[in-house]
Amino acid sequence: MRKNANSHSGRIFSDRKWIIPFFASLLVSVSLFLTAIIGTLSSSSGGEQLPFDIISFARSEESSGYFVESDLERSLNSNVVQKMEAPRLAYLISGTKGDSHRMMRTLEAVYHPRNQYILHLDLEAPPRERLELASSVKADPTFREVENVRVMSQSNLVTYKGPTMIACTLQAIAILLKESAKWDWFINLSASDYPLVTQDDLLYIFSNLTRDLNFIEHTRLSGWKLNQRARSIIVDPALYLSKKSDIAWTTQRRTLPTSFKLFTGSAWVMLTRSFVEYCIWGWDNFPRTILMYYTNFVSSPEGYFHTVICNTQEFRHTAIGHDLHYIAWDNPPKQHPISLTMKDFEKMVKSNAPFARKFARNDPVLDKIDKELLGRTHRFAPGAWCIGNSDAGADPCSVRGNDSVFRPGPGAERLQKLISLLLSEDSRSKQCL
Ligand SMILES: *[C@@H]1O[C@H](CO)[C@@H](O)[C@H](O)[C@H]1NC(C)=O
Ligand SMILES: *[C@@H]1O[C@H](CO)[C@@H](O)[C@H](O)[C@H]1NC(C)=O
Ligand SMILES: *[C@@H]1O[C@H](CO)[C@@H](O)[C@H](O)[C@H]1NC(C)=O
Repeated sequence: MRKNANSHSGRIFSDRKWIIPFFASLLVSVSLFLTAIIGTLSSSSGGEQLPFDIISFARSEESSGYFVESDLERSLNSNVVQKMEAPRLAYLISGTKGDSHRMMRTLEAVYHPRNQYILHLDLEAPPRERLELASSVKADPTFREVENVRVMSQSNLVTYKGPTMIACTLQAIAILLKESAKWDWFINLSASDYPLVTQDDLLYIFSNLTRDLNFIEHTRLSGWKLNQRARSIIVDPALYLSKKSDIAWTTQRRTLPTSFKLFTGSAWVMLTRSFVEYCIWGWDNFPRTILMYYTNFVSSPEGYFHTVICNTQEFRHTAIGHDLHYIAWDNPPKQHPISLTMKDFEKMVKSNAPFARKFARNDPVLDKIDKELLGRTHRFAPGAWCIGNSDAGADPCSVRGNDSVFRPGPGAERLQKLISLLLSEDSRSKQCL
């Protein structure tokens, strides 16, 4: 035992000679190893590798809960949960000097007590016209009771091809979000737009849709348009001047963006509440970054929402490539679309679109639309909510019934055809390409 212990300790004693070189070489290899790792890390942080790793980490399932964004994304998805209640729409109707009567006509043609409406007359309209519009809204007994029509008292100076147009649309959306908790889609109309179906048709068909579809006509910006639009830098003087003047073109050119792809399309849109909340709240900085980028971009209303939606993973599959309007262009297209008249009536109906533009003030075709498509004989295009007596030419909409009952007509059938086409496999395979 003792001998054994002795020999053991003796061996340890005699073996100690290699311990010092062993630890020395261990120290050297460990420090070499550490230097190698630190070197790799610092070199890759200068390149593209590391940011990508961080992004994929932030997006991976395991990491959810570490970052505040994962909570926000969850709240985003919960908004989309299918509601059983019939939908509600929020309309912005905008116009300029001399448009107040047309705006009232369009408003009455798209009016339904379930919906929300906001009217904006830009700064070119004289204050008297705005006041007149506000007082005719105020004087209407239906609008007064239902309280769903608002006139913006603040009038913005708006350049139609500049960022001030987007700013105005975003302001209207912000007001609609603040004032009413209960709408599902935002729709953008101008005074020269007119509906081709009743609100009963529209609400009836949309009752059947999931509330996460954004109707936004879009294509990838490419070719000469890409170079002409994305390289030039404009300044919209309406951002800082009180009188309207045209957008200014600078001689500088900028390079094409590499951190997102540019999309373009129609400035007329029908967007879901969850998507516009994403744009307005800005908890994800992307919509704000794109807004700032578009400040110097010509025709920004034809690109802002398109670029945001197609570059956002959570929303790109919700973009349906149609603006729900019938719009006719010259061949080759000029800057403005053709004014629609009687001879376009058949084509408008055949398009199955719920809206059309643009119409000249009080064009006779509007009376034909009122009579044959909307059944509008009094102020409003009637629906199942109008339960008053219509004897002796009385207005049935002067008595309001249940606003979640709809009476769809031929317009609903037309719209259903269009929607089925848009939701087909073939159309959806072209999303954000
Ligand atoms: C909204 O509607 C107006 C029509 O008044 C249009 O000119 C504008 O570009 C539209 N779109 C956006 C994104 O603001
Ligand atoms: C709702 O959608 C279903 C399935 O697409 C269809 O069969 C039904 O007819 C639709 N209803 C209405 C009211 O459009
Ligand atoms: C209105 O109509 C809907 C659908 O038919 C029904 O569920 C609801 O109870 C009605 N509301 C009232 C107040 O009658």
